[in-house]
Amino acid sequence: MSDARPIGVYDSGVGGLTVVKQLEENLPEEHIIYVGDTAKAPYGEKTAEQIRQYSREIITFLLEFDVKLVLAACNTSSALALPEIQEEFPVPVVGVIEPGVRAALRHHRKGPIALWATEATVASGVYSQKLKAANPGVETVAVPCPKLVPMIESGRLEEPNLTQVLEEYLEPVRQAQAEILILGCTHYPFLAPRIQALAPELTLIDPAIETVGEVRRRLEETDGLSPARGRGSEYYVSGDPGHFAARSQVLAGKVLQPRQWNRPRECD
Ligand code: DGL
Repeated sequence: MSDARPIGVYDSGVGGLTVVKQLEENLPEEHIIYVGDTAKAPYGEKTAEQIRQYSREIITFLLEFDVKLVLAACNTSSALALPEIQEEFPVPVVGVIEPGVRAALRHHRKGPIALWATEATVASGVYSQKLKAANPGVETVAVPCPKLVPMIESGRLEEPNLTQVLEEYLEPVRQAQAEILILGCTHYPFLAPRIQALAPELTLIDPAIETVGEVRRRLEETDGLSPARGRGSEYYVSGDPGHFAARSQVLAGKVLQPRQWNRPRECD
């Protein structure tokens, strides 16, 4: 048995494209419907209530495509919304945090594990709780990085400003002598080469890679993998499609032409 229905993927903006890349490389047969909630980005400065509401609206929209599984390609939604809303839907909703924790612990040898994430994800404490639950001896150095998502979404990545911002967020990681840095926001892997160049001693963890393994496992369990190469990926955004197309060209190396997604009603 197999299942040709699409996989739904969402993020606040272009960040989830780092996850789509991993999906396309590892599960090329799957048909992906992606929603970037660019009208509401950044999620990292929103309240938990708002993030839940946005996530519910997106998943409800994705269900219109008869998706077989939803992947929240967004740490902020995974941290703040999924624990509350995951069970409300008739399909599995997979987040990126547990896979990220597993990947970090696999590489961990000694010292604290550093986390870069949005303010909302850091404030939720979810990463540190899950790391501790899996290994009580592990401390987490969680660094909120509120400047990064707006810079990536808007394309303001010029030097020397970018290096200054990255150095600012690397400072507490170095202070703590962490060897591992979890990129706990799906936007950050776009900057991985720059971060690695500034801090070659760090092992960078991109939760997306482990997350795709989790998606494969979940689909295999239910004989739900797609039988043959599907229709590729389709994109929807709540903000300006032209802006998303331009950002995708710079960040993902290809022009993605999204369709407009109009939320059912304006919530705030
Ligand atoms: N890329 C998302 C995350 O992984 C959201 C970032 C934001 O919109 O602030 O957290």
